[in-house]
Amino acid sequence: MAKRTKSSQRWLERQRKDTFAKKAASDGLGSRAHFKLEEIDARFKLIRPGMRILELGAAPGGWSRYAAERLNDGMIVAVDPRPITAPGNVVLLEGEYGNDDMDTRITEALDGRQVDLVLSDMAPNISGIRVRDQAEAMNLADLAVDAAGRWLKPGGSMVVKMFHGDGFDAWVADTRKLFGRLAMMKPKSSRSESREVFAVGIEYSSLTSHEGVV
Ligand SMILES: C[S@@+](CC[C@H](N)C(=O)[O-])C[C@H]1O[C@@H](n2cnc3c(N)ncnc32)[C@H](O)[C@@H]1O
Repeated sequence: MAKRTKSSQRWLERQRKDTFAKKAASDGLGSRAHFKLEEIDARFKLIRPGMRILELGAAPGGWSRYAAERLNDGMIVAVDPRPITAPGNVVLLEGEYGNDDMDTRITEALDGRQVDLVLSDMAPNISGIRVRDQAEAMNLADLAVDAAGRWLKPGGSMVVKMFHGDGFDAWVADTRKLFGRLAMMKPKSSRSESREVFAVGIEYSSLTSHEGVV
């Protein structure tokens, strides 16, 4: 078989990306983000009817729409400072996660109950200064673990967008202690040149100490 040149690999890669972009547009889904959660869910079977979900970094709403379709009578509390478009079983909280006021709003929206699943697709505004962007991304990953500590049921699951770089290995080692299993997944719909990867925690253990994690 002929060896692939770098330019033909780039061409194939662009074609693959276009496939997801076109599919998102033709299905009325708006973005490729939807496919990332779909792939993660297909592998780990995370979303089931009747669940309660806390979703951080939900705008513009691709993940919310995917999850809402699978929930029937379940509910999603979706948080983002940017506007979210989502169906009726999604409670929209406009604002940033990571302050006392938002904690109170989430607790009220959940009526004091815990959730089965924490989803975080939170990503920082990219400044182009790599060290700063990575520090902010790690801070958002820490915030997702903080949310699990507050609202995730024992035995629940978590999906967190991560970026390879400083702090990544230590975060994985610490977070692994909180779950029966912590897997890393790079969906096909995620751009191959992106350092993005998703951490999937299964079987959350509330008995494990959170010290040193957040
Ligand atoms: C990749 S987008 C999420 C896409 C979304 N999952 C979807 O399917 O449409 C990342 C989002 O994280 C949000 N974000 C960043 N920091 C946040 C914070 N502290 N609290 C809540 N959302 C945050 C951004 O506003 C942005 O909308």
